[in-house]
Amino acid sequence: MARSAMSPAPRRGPASEAGRSVDQARADWVRDFRRVRAETEARSAHLSVEDQIVQSMADASPTKWHRAHVTWFFEQFLLVPHDPSYRVFDQRFPFLFNSYYVAAGPRHARPQRGLITRPNSEDVSAYRAHVDAAVVRLIEQVPAEMADRIFEIVEIGLHHEQQHQELLLTDILHAFAQNPTDPVYDANWRPPHAAQGPRGYVEVPPGIQAVGHSGEKFCFDNETPLHDELIPHVRIARHLVTNAEWVEFIRAEGYATASLWLSDGWSMVQAENWQAPGYWRQKEGTWHAMTLAGLKPIDPNAPVQHVSYYEAEAFARFAGKHLPSEAEWEVAARTNIIADAFGIAWQWTRCAYLPYPGYRPAEGALGEYNGKFMISQMVLRGSSLATPEGHERVSYRNFFYPPARWQFSGVRLAEFV
Ligand SMILES: [Fe+2]
Repeated sequence: MARSAMSPAPRRGPASEAGRSVDQARADWVRDFRRVRAETEARSAHLSVEDQIVQSMADASPTKWHRAHVTWFFEQFLLVPHDPSYRVFDQRFPFLFNSYYVAAGPRHARPQRGLITRPNSEDVSAYRAHVDAAVVRLIEQVPAEMADRIFEIVEIGLHHEQQHQELLLTDILHAFAQNPTDPVYDANWRPPHAAQGPRGYVEVPPGIQAVGHSGEKFCFDNETPLHDELIPHVRIARHLVTNAEWVEFIRAEGYATASLWLSDGWSMVQAENWQAPGYWRQKEGTWHAMTLAGLKPIDPNAPVQHVSYYEAEAFARFAGKHLPSEAEWEVAARTNIIADAFGIAWQWTRCAYLPYPGYRPAEGALGEYNGKFMISQMVLRGSSLATPEGHERVSYRNFFYPPARWQFSGVRLAEFV
């Protein structure tokens, strides 16, 4: 599956922020709503109608589905329960565009999303416009005593939509990578630059440290509660593992050395014939990789992307290191001792995706899609080049199954001292 849209834990009604009137909060939420909704359309604008239909694997969803699903989210969780004047755009859409909310009713089979040619892209655009107008009207007209609750749901919907904006890119890149003509998503796209400076390892502050979300700003409920973790004496890499380092792993026959791999990982190497990170291929004797700007020679100094947890773990073993724990990563990021924590590649940790001590899922349908995924997945930290601006957080917990490698996932190492 694609990353689950995570269950939210709003910290406080935005209208009640000190010094902000309800009218000002209304104006701010309309502006934020329009900005986030426009970003989804901006990311989709590079794609043809045909591009927007394709589903290249069960884990990935068509662009058109993403555009409609995030719209359904506002319709289902904001408009239907809170706006008596709202009329559902099309009674058939909830079945098509509900992802996995059992409490919200039956839904279409995920692996068959690519078979849905109708509603077409124009219909989805009309659906978006219908819901946009209704949400803006609700924000502008909601009575003051209901404003906090409405703004909370708008906020959740916007963070949810931002998650799908990242998935929109990872999913279309996977689709384009299946195409022998190497399509280009955006010819002007450029990869972010990794930090320069001395490489090596830095000590993470040891001892009992607070981990998890604190403060009044938004977070998802899986980042709570704030709790203590014991940090051992450990050093963490300042930088991310590079493509050049990964080429060394390949040259050393890392993909052919069973002793480096977890058993399940070795099974995947053999079943999928993995010989390099996702999207890498040899062209005229040089490693190339599919990117958002098409097929490009790999940059030796750039951080490696599109590696699974299994590959990250095998590489760490090859290097005589290990992957950081979630807590080690978070304390390092909070204390600002690592480079490129955000904005390039999500970083696998050695931690299974589990509830923090005392965690309880939210009540109701919106609480469905976080706690119930806390099984058999691994946590990644940081953010990636595809993460929308303003969506990243030091306490953010992303999670995927260990074989997944179509996300912008990379590696940061650690070593015990
Ligand atoms: Fe979702």
